[in-house]
Amino acid sequence: MSNALKDYFTSCQTRVEKALDLRLTSAEILPQKLHQAMRYSTLDGGKRMRPMLAYATGRALNIPEDGLDGPACAVEFIHVYSLIHDDLPAMDNDDLRRGKPTCHIAFDHATAILAGDALQALAFEVLANDPSISASPENRLRMLTVLAKASGSQGMVGGQAIDLDSVGRKITLPELENMHIHKTGALIRASVQLATLAKDGVDLQLAEQLDQYAKAIGLSFQVQDDILDEESDTATLGKTQGKDKDNDKPTYPALLGMAGAKQKALDLHERAIDSLSGFGAEADLLRDLSRYIIERKH
Ligand code: IPE
Ligand code: IPE
Ligand code: MG
Ligand code: MG
Ligand code: MG
Repeated sequence: MSNALKDYFTSCQTRVEKALDLRLTSAEILPQKLHQAMRYSTLDGGKRMRPMLAYATGRALNIPEDGLDGPACAVEFIHVYSLIHDDLPAMDNDDLRRGKPTCHIAFDHATAILAGDALQALAFEVLANDPSISASPENRLRMLTVLAKASGSQGMVGGQAIDLDSVGRKITLPELENMHIHKTGALIRASVQLATLAKDGVDLQLAEQLDQYAKAIGLSFQVQDDILDEESDTATLGKTQGKDKDNDKPTYPALLGMAGAKQKALDLHERAIDSLSGFGAEADLLRDLSRYIIERKH
């Protein structure tokens, strides 16, 4: 990881932690168990890749970071909700997440379902009302649409449905790619799109290039997630290694072999870099993030 990216990671993680904390309801307020569960799963963990992408997109477009706190938090709230539900027994049945017991283990199943539900609602409340967003009402409305579509049946939730429906079945490579584009790619793409909407009048061609970049890394992110599930270990991952095989999930290494999956990740990284040809050094963080995504160990 480049030094610039390392510094960026640290400053973003501190920034995001504060911004999330500020937007979550206090654990003292009723219903306390629900608010505790929302805070437990959101705070103090995770790479914060989606917020980081929003801020790095802002850097490429010269948008100040404090104008992006709302969009960064909104997408992280949706992501955390997706993780809480993904870990439930009805889905992947995981008991470890971000190095601690999953929400339904630390609390109970009903509370985990409700914490996910409430985090999803909070994400949209933030986009609708957050004072950090200074874009026009039209762009705010576009942001709401982007996040709703990326989260719903034609985005992350749709991808999760395909994932569950694929368990134990042989699926083709295009079907696998379609599943990954939805379950993981959609929210990553939304992180970049929300940032481009945080400023009015962003050049459409630049926005399109950023979208192409986001599509490539959205897929490479899940390819690497599949690789790590097979190659890494539970302590490094902070989630149980080997779950995909245990749950009989179709993955890139399962379909292409480990070398094929790694080549796919590299090809996607190159595609992401090519997409940014219209940008200069202001997009270097985005370039570094793409490399990090395929080289990360957790
Ligand atoms: C894990 O996402 C689930 C996927 C969509 C692959 P991350 O790897 O971003 O998880 P955290 O946020 O760092 O815990
Ligand atoms: C999850 O994919 C994608 C989500 C929408 C949460 P995985 O099931 O592979 O994520 P992990 O490996 O549990 O983090
Ligand atoms: Mg899953
Ligand atoms: Mg899972
Ligand atoms: Mg996984």
